[in-house]
Amino acid sequence: MYKSLIRPFLFKFDPEEVHHFTFSFLKNFGFLAKLFLPKPIEDKRLEREVFGLKFKNPVGLAAGFDKDAKLFSELSDLGFGFIEIGTLTPRPQPGNDKKRLFRLKEDSAIINRMGFNNGGVDEAVERLKKNKNVLIGGNIGKNKVTPNEEAVNDYKICFEKLFPYVDYFVVNVSSPNTPNLRELQEKEPLTKLLGELQKLNFEKPKPKPILLKIAPDLTDEQLLDIIDIVKETQIAGVIATNTTLSRENLISENKSETGGLSGKPLTKRSTEVIRFLSDKSGKAFPIIGVGGIHTAQDAIEKLEAGASLVQLYTGFIYEGPELINEINQAILEKESI
Ligand SMILES: Cc1cc2nc3c(=O)[nH]c(=O)nc-3n(C[C@H](O)[C@H](O)[C@H](O)COP(=O)(O)O)c2cc1C
Repeated sequence: MYKSLIRPFLFKFDPEEVHHFTFSFLKNFGFLAKLFLPKPIEDKRLEREVFGLKFKNPVGLAAGFDKDAKLFSELSDLGFGFIEIGTLTPRPQPGNDKKRLFRLKEDSAIINRMGFNNGGVDEAVERLKKNKNVLIGGNIGKNKVTPNEEAVNDYKICFEKLFPYVDYFVVNVSSPNTPNLRELQEKEPLTKLLGELQKLNFEKPKPKPILLKIAPDLTDEQLLDIIDIVKETQIAGVIATNTTLSRENLISENKSETGGLSGKPLTKRSTEVIRFLSDKSGKAFPIIGVGGIHTAQDAIEKLEAGASLVQLYTGFIYEGPELINEINQAILEKESI
């Protein structure tokens, strides 16, 4: 239904316009989507307990789709086991100039250089107060105008404000679209950033899981550093991976646009990163696997490589909400073998 009817229509328009249109549609007519789409699979065997949280199924929505926490309830109704909001920054910011989102149809991919456009953490908090029972991850970042030396404060502000309203946190230092942000992935600044957040966290009566989201473009040496940092700062886990700067083997017209590449061209590399982290750490911490999941098999491969949960973004745009059920069905079949 989605691929044969809805996608061909949506793909005729500008991707960012379609994003806003889909948002308003789901917000106002989400009940229609429920009528036409298959019912989400609910099954006890899909439940997972990871970093102390109970997930109704292991398939989540990745950060960047519902940046401002406007649609988490409707998206959860589509079957996602958890929704990651953000990246949020302390103050609202417009992001980069448009056009900044590009479909690479022949590659089943997207290039984006959105630049953390968001309405700021305060507005999101007001919306999250209305959350009834959706499991929410809060993905946090820094404002573009904040220099890296002061970045810790931005993360701390978002952490404190979101703390009562999210179930886990994601420290995003891996977006390629905020100048110099990825420098915060280096050992010294990253240890400091995570250490300071953990300090705040451990002062709470009930600390919450903090995860680190990493780029797929890190070298093996940098990945080994990440393992050390996770152990040293005792954060709860890693999300692997964000978008890539690589442009290997692309054929689409838009392939030379600046920004982060997501979708099918990322599938293999993000699975490699998951496997590397899992093997080299001796499965020391949970990993959320994300990057180029377009089929149930892609998700299974990430789970087999060591991920405890998976997330979708580009695959959700290309394959539609049916992909959630397909993955959960495949997991059930795999477990009953
Ligand atoms: C348009 C767009 C915006 C994104 N925004 C964010 C973001 O704000 N924060 C973040 O951590 N990741 C962001 N991402 C990255 C995704 O969460 C995901 O890590 C990446 O796209 C790889 O998964 P995929 O191949 O399934 O899309 C964004 C991705 C896209 C396509």
